[in-house]
Amino acid sequence: MVVALVPAAGHGERFGSTTPKQFLPLNGVPVLIRTLQRLCQLPDIAAVVVAVPAAWLEFSRQLCQQYGFGSTVRLVIGGEERQDSVARALQTEEVSEAEFVVIHDAVRPFAPAELFQRVLQAARQHGAAVPGLPPTETVKETTPEGFVRQTLPRERLRLIQTPQAFRRELLQRAYDAALQHHLRATDDAALVEALGHPVAIIEGVPENLKITHPLDWALAELLAHIEEQR
Ligand code: CTP
Ligand code: MG
Repeated sequence: MVVALVPAAGHGERFGSTTPKQFLPLNGVPVLIRTLQRLCQLPDIAAVVVAVPAAWLEFSRQLCQQYGFGSTVRLVIGGEERQDSVARALQTEEVSEAEFVVIHDAVRPFAPAELFQRVLQAARQHGAAVPGLPPTETVKETTPEGFVRQTLPRERLRLIQTPQAFRRELLQRAYDAALQHHLRATDDAALVEALGHPVAIIEGVPENLKITHPLDWALAELLAHIEEQR
């Protein structure tokens, strides 16, 4: 059994809108709802746990009701950082019964079903799996003084996306260890890596846009438009 966790409790500092980006309507449908619609169409997912900001809990509840997710989606209050939000979602009853957990950012509404299927398949085989794409630009490591320390070999680098999938027991162990050793990470796989457990990388999908900066909104509108033409 697979449970999906959706961190949706950020405030979107870089995006800069008063309403957090995950609640903004994208061609009429809120970003979070678009993501949930994708997730809930997958045959493998038994339950969905969504972490939202405390101040948006009631709004989120109403939104889920309105779009028919009232009974399938469990809402929890998120934390200070993404990691805290996922940690809270991990504590729910739904998760304790799962064999696999798939974690997907609320602000990636265009991840195709086949990507979820491939990442889950790899997680069944390896315990942990993430999608990644090679960077299109040259990546350099910097010094604190603002100089180049080194140019990194691009063939080996990957820009990592969600969905990320894990054996539930492994992910829980990683989160427990992070709590104990005060580890902070920007993705879930990094905590599994810290355990020394291998994480498989599968091929990511370019249209799996993460809405981060204001410019991303224009692309998201275009992608939503193209999708609706199909
Ligand atoms: N997230 C979360 N809890 C947090 C911070 C982030 O659940 N405390 C979620 C966001 O809502 C988003 C996903 O994690 O769906 C990826 O985060 P990001 O794109 O960084 O969103 P924000 O943290 O909201 O944006 P920013 O970093 O620009 O403030
Ligand atoms: Mg953030």
